[in-house]
Amino acid sequence: MCGIVGYTGPRQAAQLLLDGLKRLEYRGYDSAGLALVRDGQIEVHKAPGKISVLEQELGSRPPLGTTGIAHTRWATHGAPNVVNAHPHTDCGGTVALVHNGIIENAGALRTALSKRGHVFRSETDTEVLAHLIEEMLAKGVSLVEAVAGALHQVEGTYGIAAVSTREPDTIVAARLGSPLLVAIGSGENFVASDASAVLAHTRSVVYLDEGEIAVVRPGDYRILDLDAVEKEKAVTQVDWDLATIERGGYAHFMLKEIMEQPESLRNTLRGRLLEEEGTARLGGLNLSDEQLLQVNRIVLTACGTSWHAALIGEYMMEELARIPTEVEYASEFRYRNPIVDEHTLVVGISQSGETADTLAALREAKRRGARTLGLVNVVGSTIAREVDGGIYLHAGPEIGVASTKAFTSQIAALALLTLAMGRLRALSILQGREVVRALRRLPDLVAQVLAKAPEVERIGERVMRANNVLYLGRGYNFPVALEGALKLKEISYVHAEGYPAAEMKHGPIALIDDLMPVMFVAPKDAVYQKILSNVEEVRARGGRVIAVVTEGDTGVAKLAGQKIEVPETLDLLTPVLTVLPLQLLAYYIAVRRGCNVDQPRNLAKSVTVE
Ligand code: AGP
Repeated sequence: MCGIVGYTGPRQAAQLLLDGLKRLEYRGYDSAGLALVRDGQIEVHKAPGKISVLEQELGSRPPLGTTGIAHTRWATHGAPNVVNAHPHTDCGGTVALVHNGIIENAGALRTALSKRGHVFRSETDTEVLAHLIEEMLAKGVSLVEAVAGALHQVEGTYGIAAVSTREPDTIVAARLGSPLLVAIGSGENFVASDASAVLAHTRSVVYLDEGEIAVVRPGDYRILDLDAVEKEKAVTQVDWDLATIERGGYAHFMLKEIMEQPESLRNTLRGRLLEEEGTARLGGLNLSDEQLLQVNRIVLTACGTSWHAALIGEYMMEELARIPTEVEYASEFRYRNPIVDEHTLVVGISQSGETADTLAALREAKRRGARTLGLVNVVGSTIAREVDGGIYLHAGPEIGVASTKAFTSQIAALALLTLAMGRLRALSILQGREVVRALRRLPDLVAQVLAKAPEVERIGERVMRANNVLYLGRGYNFPVALEGALKLKEISYVHAEGYPAAEMKHGPIALIDDLMPVMFVAPKDAVYQKILSNVEEVRARGGRVIAVVTEGDTGVAKLAGQKIEVPETLDLLTPVLTVLPLQLLAYYIAVRRGCNVDQPRNLAKSVTVE
C-alpha cells in the first residue's frame, strides 16, 4: 500500500515526482522521499509524514535531475521515520530504490550481507535489495541484470523501482505481488504503483504482471521476465481523468464518493440489465452457461467492507439462485485446508483488486481446480488479471480509504451475478424481471436517500460524543449493521459493533443503557416483525434507539428516538439504501471529531501485504 512514482525524460524530475506522490498519498503516508540521478551522483531527500513535509523541506528550488524515483510509505517493517523512509541506497550511494511489499527472507539476507561488509542504515527489509543490487553491479552487469539477480535471491513480494549512477537515465522496475505500471509519455516515461500518479501526463500505461521487469528510458521501454526474456505487452488507455479523481468540490473524497453513488451504480448496471429475459448480461465472466451450470457451490471471499458485501451475496445466491454459498474471510481461507474442486466457483470481491489476502485466496482456489471470478473496481488490477473472469464494478476511482461507493456497486454486481446464475436454474423469468426493474430504479432511490444527508448530519451531532455504538440488523441487513459499525470505527475511531439483532439476548444486551446509541437497520422486509421485537427489547432496557426504516413505517419508527427513512425496494436490494445513512453518519461524526476522514490513522486504501 505504499506509493511509487518514477520519471525519466527531458524535464526536471523533482516536482513531477512530488505531484505524482500527492496523487498516491491515500496509499500510505507515514513518510516520503525521492532520489535524483545527476552528474554521476544520486541525491536522496526524505521526510516523515505527508508529502507536503517533504515538499517544504525541498523548498522553492527542488534538486536538479531528469531521472528520479519517489515513494510514499505505509510502514510494515521498521518504524515510520526518516531513516526507514524510502528510497534506500547501497553502501556507495550509487544505487537507490523504492519498494512496496515485504521481503520475507530479509533477515537472513541482511546477516549474510553484513558479513560481507555491507553497512545498513535502516531497519527496513527494503534496504537489503539495494545492497544485493550493489553486489551484482560490482560484477559488471547491467542495472536490469543486477536487479534481476537480486530479486532471484528474494522471497516475498515487491513492487520496486531502482536507479543507478551507472545508467543515469534508466529506471528498472519490477513487480511480484505489488502493482506497478509503466506510463508512456512523449519522449519521457514514468513508472508508478497506480495510474492516478501519472494521469496529468499520459493515459497510456503498461501494467506489469507477476515476475515482470521493466527497463525504462526517456525514449523507450522494454518489458522482460526475470530470465531477461523480452515480452510484448498491451498498452492500456486509462479512461479516468484527473477531474474524476479530484474532489469535485466536496470537502473530502469520502463525501464525494458517497454522493456519487447514484452515478456509480448506473455505471455498474450500464448495459448489463436484460429486462425481457429477466437476467443480466455479463460479458466478462468468461464462463459459458454450461460451465456455470456445472457449479454446485460458491465461495465468496474478501476482506473488510468487501467481506460484508459477500455476506449479502450469500443471501442473494441461496435465495434466488438456490446454489449453496459460503463466505470466507480471505485471510482465513488461504491458510485453512478448504474443500474446493472444479465444480466450486470462488469469487473474490475487491475494490482495489490488490488486497494480498484476497489475491492469495484466489490463487489457492485456482491451485485446487476451482473456477475463479473477480468483482473488482480497478481495471487491470492483479486480481482482475489473474481470475478466470469477472465483473468490473465501474464505480470510478475510490480514493477515500473508507470504502463506500464500491460497497454498493459490489452489491449490485452480486445481484447481477445472482440473476445470471439464478436464471440458469430456479429463477423464473417473472422473478428475474422484477429484480431487473428494481435494479433499474435503484440509482434514483439512492439519490432520494442521499438528499436526506442534513437529517443524518443532525443525528450525527447527537451521537458524536458516544464512545460506543451498537449496530443491529437481520437478514440482508445484518451485514449492513456490520458495515455501518466498520465505517464508524475506521474513520471516527469510535468503538462500534455490528451484530445480528436476534443475538442481543445471548449476551450483548447487557451493554444496553441510556448512554449507548443503538442503531437498528430495520427496513420493511421479510424479518421486519422479528426486528421490531428486538427494538422493543432494547427500548425496555432504556436503550437509545436510532433506526433506518422504510418510508411510512409506523412500527419501529415509533419506538426510535430518531429515524432516517429510505424508500421501499426488494429485500435483496435494501442494503444499497440502508447503508447510505450509515456511511453519512460515520462521515459527519468523523468530521465533527476532527478526524482525517480520507486518510484515517493506521489505515491504507489497499492492503497489499498480509
Ligand atoms: C473499507 O472501508 C476498508 N477500508 C477495508 O476494510 C477494505 O474494504 C478492505 O481492505 C478490502 O479492500 P478491497 O476491497 O480493496 O479488497
